[in-house]
Amino acid sequence: MTLPPKGPSSPIELTNSTASFRHEPVMLQEILETFKPIENGLFVDATIGGAGHAQALLKQAPKRQLIGIDRDMSAVEVAASRLKAFGDRVQVQHARFDQIGKVIDDDGRQLSGALFDLGVSSHQLDTPERGFSHRFSSPLDMRMNLNDSLDASTVINSYEEAELVYLLRNNSDERFARRIAQSIISARPIESTTELAEVVRGAVPAATRRTGRHPAMRTFQAIRIAVNSELELIEPALKQVIERLRPGGRIVVLSYHSGEDRIVKQVFREAADGVCVCPSTLPCICGSESNVKLLRRKVVRPTTEEIEANPRSASARFRAAERLPVAEA
Ligand SMILES: C[S@@+](CC[C@H](N)C(=O)[O-])C[C@H]1O[C@@H](n2cnc3c(N)ncnc32)[C@H](O)[C@@H]1O
Repeated sequence: MTLPPKGPSSPIELTNSTASFRHEPVMLQEILETFKPIENGLFVDATIGGAGHAQALLKQAPKRQLIGIDRDMSAVEVAASRLKAFGDRVQVQHARFDQIGKVIDDDGRQLSGALFDLGVSSHQLDTPERGFSHRFSSPLDMRMNLNDSLDASTVINSYEEAELVYLLRNNSDERFARRIAQSIISARPIESTTELAEVVRGAVPAATRRTGRHPAMRTFQAIRIAVNSELELIEPALKQVIERLRPGGRIVVLSYHSGEDRIVKQVFREAADGVCVCPSTLPCICGSESNVKLLRRKVVRPTTEEIEANPRSASARFRAAERLPVAEA
């Protein structure tokens, strides 16, 4: 089990213990079904979180080995402790998934399987001090890696209106982006999650306040995605993994909103179709080739039973692909 040296000490003390780190693994049956034919080799879990998926993948096939990474040190610690029973079949590293190429190259083996379960964990959402949720009062933080410098307070209290509007629209399809951005700017300084939630509630039309979901949920999602540059990291990470899969190796990605899924779909489609840069009137001479076949042509959603049992799975979107043999030159 490899644990990296600890970085500078965290600026906040976390109240949730390892024992309370619960994250119900989403679409587990679909994931296990997809990886079932691959009984051995190296797997990477790029978002190990509470290690729910990782445990299941290791139990499913005793000859698999797994490298798990997470940018959140508390997830790394919990995952390392949960996976101890698997001994030297597992390594857990503190890294961002766009550094995954180096992690795999340092290991030296080709990949047999890779899993990305994007976004935020239940543990992060349910730890009040992390500032991810409108349900608890805490400082505006939302950093997945507590060593990063950009936090939610900086975004909320210093971004210009146009930047806030852009990220609200782009990261969470917020219909009332301009009204919310203007209200945030008038209410500055905003110091806590609950203050932000109230500002957003006051900014949206009264009818929207009565629709069930808290009207600030989208704003919290949009700010969290901006704080952690979440969308920018997906494409490079998926490309690094696809390049390092052995023929027949498989990749599965779970995303949780349209902005993430658009990127996954695009990367998979380009890898499946090849990116030919030749004029459409000429035969292809640029060497573009398909690297993967899509295992499902359409996105797969959780079953109604799963959503009932675990409402946080409701927005999940599953995509999977298999690496093709390299074409003969
Ligand atoms: C949805 S949770 C994963 C839960 C996990 N599959 C399980 O079964 O417990 C997502 C995890 O990915 C991590 N994460 C998000 N973006 C990341 C990135 N760019 N690099 C590494 N880890 C990331 C988060 O810190 C979080 O712990």
